[in-house]
Amino acid sequence: VEEVKVEQKVLTKKKESTITYGKVTLFFGSQSGTANKFCNILSQEALDNDFEPSVEDLKDFKKEFFTQGDNLVILCMATHGEGDPTDNAKEFFEWIKNHQEENAFKNIRFTVFGLGNTQYEHYNAMGRQTNQHFERLGAKRVYKYGEGDDNSSLEDDFNEWKENLWTELKKIITPIDLTKQNDQSAASHHNKKKSGTAFKLVPTEAAEINFENAKNDGKKYEFLTDGYIHGTVANVKSIKELRQNNNDGSTLHMEIDLKNTNLKYKTAMNIEIFAENDPALVEKVGAHLNLDLNQRVELVVDEEFIEKFKYPFPSPISIRSILTKFCDFQGQLMKKTLKDLAKLTTNEEHKSKLEKLASAAGKKEFDSEIYQKKKCLFDLLKEYQIVPTLEQFVDLCPRLSPRLFTISSSDVKNPEIVTVTDSLVADKLEDGSIKHGICSKYLINFQNKLKNGMTGNRIRVGFKASSFILPQDSKTPIIMIGPGTGIAPFIAFCQEKEALLEKGINICPGEFTLYFGCRHQNGDYIFREELEQYVKSGIINKLYTAFSRDQGSKVYVQDLMIKNEEEIYNTFFERNGLIYICGATAMGESVVNALRKIVQKFKNIDEQEAHKFVENLEKEKRIIKELW
Ligand code: 2AM
Repeated sequence: VEEVKVEQKVLTKKKESTITYGKVTLFFGSQSGTANKFCNILSQEALDNDFEPSVEDLKDFKKEFFTQGDNLVILCMATHGEGDPTDNAKEFFEWIKNHQEENAFKNIRFTVFGLGNTQYEHYNAMGRQTNQHFERLGAKRVYKYGEGDDNSSLEDDFNEWKENLWTELKKIITPIDLTKQNDQSAASHHNKKKSGTAFKLVPTEAAEINFENAKNDGKKYEFLTDGYIHGTVANVKSIKELRQNNNDGSTLHMEIDLKNTNLKYKTAMNIEIFAENDPALVEKVGAHLNLDLNQRVELVVDEEFIEKFKYPFPSPISIRSILTKFCDFQGQLMKKTLKDLAKLTTNEEHKSKLEKLASAAGKKEFDSEIYQKKKCLFDLLKEYQIVPTLEQFVDLCPRLSPRLFTISSSDVKNPEIVTVTDSLVADKLEDGSIKHGICSKYLINFQNKLKNGMTGNRIRVGFKASSFILPQDSKTPIIMIGPGTGIAPFIAFCQEKEALLEKGINICPGEFTLYFGCRHQNGDYIFREELEQYVKSGIINKLYTAFSRDQGSKVYVQDLMIKNEEEIYNTFFERNGLIYICGATAMGESVVNALRKIVQKFKNIDEQEAHKFVENLEKEKRIIKELW
């Protein structure tokens, strides 16, 4: 499950140039922000190669741009979920898909890079289909189609694809000599090619802005996609550990109080948590950067960028808030960031080491030294003794994006309390220390605060629709499959069924089946008491549990499904039930595979037919999944 984040980088312009290859528009179809990042990287390279780039969100596309303009476009298209367009590309994709006019794009020169993940069945469907639609509509290809796999080597695939991009483009485009041009636009373009950055952070005595007010200040913010930059503030009511023992992990359950907010949620919706960096770590970063965290700054945009500038955060703002709420210096490093770091060190040895790590030749070293050791930006700043300016630091960091969870409570039971179930992310480092994910550490800090009776339990949250909605026809039988924290939306369903029963409404009567899986019955069997109670009171009619490590060989939820194949077939296929699947992607694929096997056997069809059959059920939303 990904969250929407849009990010912008400061462009650093190279020395004056006397030629231009003209405009290139870089469109992104992005869900988690990676396609956006790739466009930013291409934008910098375009500038370095004497093109005039602009990065555009597909959400804001104009039809005339494609049908009337003579434009050079590069599209970075991510595939979302089951071969779907990302939210910001939905309208655009619908439009090109249904556009029938022959040669409508005849004046467009284009190439496409697709971002996908081989863990999903419809690998890179969006990149491939966009590429085909552009061809069908008569656009001229100027560079090969490329695609990358987020399951293994996305950034490497991207780097490999773009290796010859600019040289190839420069072969087919004739540049304009700016020294011989009198025309205004070329001359002004010439003038723009001086070195500089897009914004400055200027110290101010003014008080910090109330972030809530920033929503309507008329500025364009980087991740304003859903109309907010900052979440609405609510209160954490309680946090508790759900596991009986946390020998191999921890799952926290958090209650958030929506009283005194205008937030409303629905059962099993998605919630965004705007996690913040650990205060102790922020102090360390501040010290490394030689910054006074209490200093407030005003963000001032360079004149020439102002038209298209997307603000990374509102201002005036304290440096503490910038580092705490908006900069991700703990996340997984991109090779591009290493390249940028190499530019910031004067130590030649360090420079070449960083360049090596960022290069295709340094793939192995990157994997063993950066990826395996979970090194983040702050680790490298320390290791290579690099002290960037605040502007450079903001530029090096991706924005801290909200984390998305499936809600584990029902608004029918209690509209004011929303609950989140989070399995903590903790990596054991070489020196034996534990490195928590940003959101995990954020929740642990809350837990400690509450334990110590401390105040300050405000949390920023937002809500988003999810596909987990109980069937409209309340007689529809349902089968829920949710091992691990995948159980979250189904606890919400149970709560809803129970609350409705109290009102005399009986949904899915007699056929409310749940498959749960975890490692040990006496370890990570979360919500055990609740589930047993739901079975006793008849809310859950059948509960199947797979404890993967309690016996010699592993047992998973899909194994139990195969064991119960006849029951599954009858409930689902004969009585038109619904199947909900929530949890890890690999599990989801295995579960769907089990369904294929069951269909194949009972319908007596071949493997291919079974595949098609199940695929159609997914399209019809008879199988509903949210996987991560
Ligand atoms: P494991 O860790 O013993 O492999 C919740 O995380 C449960 O899901 C655990 O019991 C885990 O088992 C199991 N699990 C891991 N991979 C799975 C897969 N591909 N399909 C189904 N369950 C899986």
